[in-house]
Amino acid sequence: MEAILTTKIPLSLSSSSSTSSNTPSLSLSSLSTLSKTTKKLSNTLIFKGTQHCNYPSSLKICAMSQTAPASVEPSTIPTEMKAWIYEDYGGVDVLKFGSNVKVPEIKDDQVLIKVAAAALNPVDFKRRLGKFKASDSPLPTIPGYDVAGVVVKVGSQVKEFKVGDEVYGDISEKALDGPKQFGSLAEYTAVEDKLLALKPKNIDFVQAAGLPLAVETAYEGLERAGMSPGKSILVLGGAGGVGSLVIQLAKQVFGASRVAATASTGKIEFLKSLGVDLAIDYTKEKFEDLPEKFDVVYDTVGEGERNVKAVKEGGSVVVLTGAVTPPGFRFVVTSNGEVLKKLNPYLESGKVKPIIDPKGPFTFDKVVEAFSYLETNRATGKVVIHPIS
Ligand SMILES: NC(=O)c1ccc[n+]([C@@H]2O[C@H](COP(=O)([O-])OP(=O)(O)OC[C@H]3O[C@@H](n4cnc5c(N)ncnc54)[C@H](OP(=O)(O)O)[C@@H]3O)[C@@H](O)[C@H]2O)c1
Repeated sequence: MEAILTTKIPLSLSSSSSTSSNTPSLSLSSLSTLSKTTKKLSNTLIFKGTQHCNYPSSLKICAMSQTAPASVEPSTIPTEMKAWIYEDYGGVDVLKFGSNVKVPEIKDDQVLIKVAAAALNPVDFKRRLGKFKASDSPLPTIPGYDVAGVVVKVGSQVKEFKVGDEVYGDISEKALDGPKQFGSLAEYTAVEDKLLALKPKNIDFVQAAGLPLAVETAYEGLERAGMSPGKSILVLGGAGGVGSLVIQLAKQVFGASRVAATASTGKIEFLKSLGVDLAIDYTKEKFEDLPEKFDVVYDTVGEGERNVKAVKEGGSVVVLTGAVTPPGFRFVVTSNGEVLKKLNPYLESGKVKPIIDPKGPFTFDKVVEAFSYLETNRATGKVVIHPIS
C-alpha cells in the first residue's frame, strides 16, 4: 500500500462521530481460463448463497448471491473515512491512501452512500494524468465515477431513495466538466439522487459497480447513432468495459440484426459468448478491408480514419476517443439514473450481463495495482474495487 496520507482534505464534516463501518457482506468468484487468480480468489472470499454463472465460455464469470447488508443508521456514520486521493496530477505514484479523510456532507438533492464497490474507468487515469486539467474540479481529488452501495443518509429534497436502499450510479453528471472532487474510491460518497438507480436484485455490488459509466456510454452512443431494429453494427474494442456492453445492448435492447466486433486472438471466444455474429481478430484481419459494411460503427478504440471505411453510405460512426473523421462524431457521456432504470429490466432478466475482469475484484488496498492493470489497455470488461474498507 502507498504511504498513509495524514493531511485532511477540505471536505465538510458530517454531523456524527461514530466509526462503525458496516460494510455489506459480499462475495464474488471470477473464474477464468485467462485468469491466474482463481485460486487466490476462492481462498480469500467467503462464498455464500447460490452461484450463477454468466458465460459458459473461455471467460467464465460467476457471481455469488449475497446476504442483504445491514442498514446503517445516520448516528453510526463516522466523521472520517478511508479514501484514495491525489494532490498532484501524475502517474499511479501520486495516488495516496488516506485513513482520516472527512466524510462528505450531503446537499438537499444528494444521498450519502456507504460504498460497497467502485469501478475504474479510463477517464479516471486520464484525469489523474492531468489531461482534463482545464475543466477539472480542484485538487486534491478522490478519484472514481462508478459506485454501488447502500444509502445511509438522504437530503431533504430526495424523494426516491431512503436509508437502506441498495443503489448504483455514475456519480459525476459530466465526466470531464467539473467531475466530483470527492469520488467513489472512498468509504462514503455524496451523490445527486437523479444520477442513481436501485441496484437490480439479481446482481451483486461488484457487478453493479462495473456498469454505470460504461453502460450509460454504450446506451447514449447507440441512441445518438440512431441504432434501431434491423440495423447492423461493428463494435471496435468489443472486449473492453464499454464495448462488451455495446455488443449486448445493440443485440438485446436495440434489436440489431447483426453484430460484429474486434478483439485480439485470446478474446475471440469471449466475443462469441456475448452474442456477436462476426468476431474479428484484429491481429490477423483488417476490419476496414472486409467487403461487408455496417449501418453503425461504434469505435471505443480510437481507430481514426479507419473506422469510417467500415460504415455504409449514410451510416453512423460513434467515436469515443482519438481523432474524429467525418461522418464520425464524438460525444462525452452524461450520467443519468434514468438510463440505468430503463436498463434494469434487461439486467434483471439476464439479457444484459455485467462483465467483471477476472483479475479482479481488487481489494481497496490494491487500487494502485488496479489502475496499473487498467492502464495496460488489456482489461476485459470492468476493473472493480471491492471490498471498500
Ligand atoms: N466519450 C465518452 O463519453 C467515453 C466514455 C467511456 C469511455 N470512453 C473512452 O473509450 C475508450 C474505451 O473505454 P473502455 O472503458 O471500454 O476501456 P477498456 O475497458 O480499458 O478497454 C480495454 C479493451 O480494449 C481492447 N482493445 C485495445 N486495443 C484494441 C484494438 N486495437 N482493437 C480492438 N480492441 C482493442 C482490449 O482488447 P484486446 O486486449 O483484445 O486488445 C481491451 O479488452 C477509452 O479511451 C475511454 O476513455 C469515452
